[in-house]
Amino acid sequence: MRNTFLSLFLLLLASVSLYAQSTISIIPQPNLVEERVGSFELLQSTPILISSNNEEMQRVAEYLSKMVEGSTWLPLTIEQRAANEAENAIVLRIESESSFSHNEAYTLTVSPVQVVIKAPSAHGLFYGVQTLRQLLPKEIEHTDPSLVPRNQKWNIPSVHIEDAPSYDYRGMHLDVARHFFPVEFIKTYLDLLAMHKMNRFHWHLTEDQGWRIEIKKYPKLTEIGAWRDSTLIKNYGSNQYDHIRYGGFYTQEDVKEIVVYAQERYITVIPEIEMPGHSSAAIAAYPELGCFNQDIAVQTTWGVFEDIYCPKEETFDFLEDVLVEVMELFPGEYIHIGGDEAPKKQWEESEVAQEVIKREGLKDEHELQSYFIRRIETFLNEHGRQIIGWDEILEGGLAPKATVMSWRGEQGGIEAAKMRHDVIMTPGGTNYFDHYQSDPNQEPVAIGGFTTVKDVYHYQPTPEELSEEEAKHVLGAQGNVWTEYMHSGNKVEYMAFPRATALAEVLWTAPENRDWFNFWARLQNQFNRFDILGINAAPHYRGSIPD
Ligand code: ACM
Repeated sequence: MRNTFLSLFLLLLASVSLYAQSTISIIPQPNLVEERVGSFELLQSTPILISSNNEEMQRVAEYLSKMVEGSTWLPLTIEQRAANEAENAIVLRIESESSFSHNEAYTLTVSPVQVVIKAPSAHGLFYGVQTLRQLLPKEIEHTDPSLVPRNQKWNIPSVHIEDAPSYDYRGMHLDVARHFFPVEFIKTYLDLLAMHKMNRFHWHLTEDQGWRIEIKKYPKLTEIGAWRDSTLIKNYGSNQYDHIRYGGFYTQEDVKEIVVYAQERYITVIPEIEMPGHSSAAIAAYPELGCFNQDIAVQTTWGVFEDIYCPKEETFDFLEDVLVEVMELFPGEYIHIGGDEAPKKQWEESEVAQEVIKREGLKDEHELQSYFIRRIETFLNEHGRQIIGWDEILEGGLAPKATVMSWRGEQGGIEAAKMRHDVIMTPGGTNYFDHYQSDPNQEPVAIGGFTTVKDVYHYQPTPEELSEEEAKHVLGAQGNVWTEYMHSGNKVEYMAFPRATALAEVLWTAPENRDWFNFWARLQNQFNRFDILGINAAPHYRGSIPD
């Protein structure tokens, strides 16, 4: 028996070290990888050849050229012409959609003579380029060629890859309200998402502890609402504050810059403007938005607060004005309107709120929240947009076209999918990357919970109890990064990666091509790349073979 275990263990060790040694180590794992003989070498003379003057394809070629130039000194020139058969070149080609299963699909064929990436869209070509990046030596991640040895060879192993994503919505969230992160960090985060073939960035911009987006019509939102007098340090309930004024916000110019940066990486930015709860910062700036016109402060601690927008006409006017400016900045289909954790106490006590309940024939405050969200949905729909809300928007009746983001487990998502509403899964147990990922006694302070990289890797976004038809409404999933205990970009990196790396594979790779040990082995290569990129990824799954 012991011998059997020993030989099984040795077999496992051998296969793991084989994976680790293979020059082909791609995350997320492509759906077909055929290794071939030989390799292609990038040379001084290698051009990038594009098949048409399609502007987006040109941009993908420039992205590739810039990436290579950043580490190799090789000036890959971009030329619009067909390749000669025997010519050392990288070829990008957009081909008819009918030969691909998905708009974001691509094929990548490397031979000793050429690298050919084909896709039905520039978006697919971009993912082919991300895969090509991972076929190159890790030194390609440098952004300063003088840090790379002069004699570094730039060989790419011969291979044929056919690839397409499992889910359309592959997202990461970032709360910039509990702590604020500069534009440069948001760009780093977007670069990491792109590297992992993720295509949605959910930007949580407003909260009790800070309003972070400039709105021209309401300057006090950022003059007052973006600043708090102090911040809780240590664990929730510790009552220990730093007594330091803290804040910051994105100007509309910053937002435009980020939206364009994301677009160039095929990432849609989804802004979240929270309502009716989590709105203390807005009410601190404009007390008339609350039901009692009270002066309140931007919150200095975490949690759920009773302050809530009052459902009067002036509040709807305000929110519509804000949303008009938001829609001008964010061209994507979705606006996230929050909807979570909205205590009803102030509405119960407010004559104005009770009057609206009576006027609209509503049963209670939950139906009042539903009325609130429906009004906002109607407004956004009239402007050609769709809403996403946290799963509390199911309570009191779901707005007719809303997409539900399921966070209190999967139940809200299941309920919504059964009602034929679109769903994005972000259940707390596996998709909250603010949780501890190892022994809390050994870790920097976090909000609680416990979610390992392995837990994330084994997550299945589509619940088994859904029928095939219902399951189509599960658009995908997202990792949430709430930043109560993340005061720096460095800490965000530590909490988000490599859990986001695991989620990226869950969302991209077909279930039959996913394997935990295989992923772990490929993750070692990803860690080496994170090192060069200066990303502070959590090291728990580095090195020794995991359980
Ligand atoms: C949430 O975590 N309150 C959506």
